[in-house]
Amino acid sequence: MKKGIILLASSNSNGDTFSVSKYLSDRTSFQIIDLKSKFIEPFDYEFKNSNDDFLPLIKEIVNNFDIIIFATPVYWYTMSGTMKIFFDRISDCLKTEKETGRKLRGKEMAVLSCGSDKELKNGFHMPFIETANYLGIKYVGEVHCWLEDNEIPTEVKHNLNKFAQIIL
Ligand SMILES: Cc1cc2nc3c(=O)[nH]c(=O)nc-3n(C[C@H](O)[C@H](O)[C@H](O)COP(=O)(O)O)c2cc1C
Repeated sequence: MKKGIILLASSNSNGDTFSVSKYLSDRTSFQIIDLKSKFIEPFDYEFKNSNDDFLPLIKEIVNNFDIIIFATPVYWYTMSGTMKIFFDRISDCLKTEKETGRKLRGKEMAVLSCGSDKELKNGFHMPFIETANYLGIKYVGEVHCWLEDNEIPTEVKHNLNKFAQIIL
């Protein structure tokens, strides 16, 4: 069985994206890492932020996990700013942390999104798929979620169960 990690990138540590991530975590035993609890600054061309939490986190991920689940709410039709900053910082691994970058090759990734709409706009997954292609990571799939009256609807649970089979 693969070792996986769920990277939660919501502005609410106990919000809807957490709820569906927790449902997935309970079915996969994949641990959730809350990016909101980390201090990760935006990409800096001068790498003056190299002492923040990004490098220890990405090293922990590449050294311990086979698959990364990127769990993001839909904010303005796209991934959250928290998630985008994490992706921007992966650029550090192509410049100053090349050994860590090389370890990303051969990993797997998948996307869990959570919005108020049942459907995503076209192109939502493109940045994930293209980033995976660029980095030599295998993109294995995605699941989109929403809540109704603060509950995970049966349809979403069903989709999450199917997704769990894909990522395990
Ligand atoms: C800043 C912001 C922008 C949003 N934009 C969208 C959107 O474009 N499409 C959508 O379906 N929901 C949108 N929503 C609703 C959230 O995606 C939805 O409530 C989600 O369940 C929130 O997850 P969270 O509790 O993890 O933040 C937005 C919410 C916020 C706060």
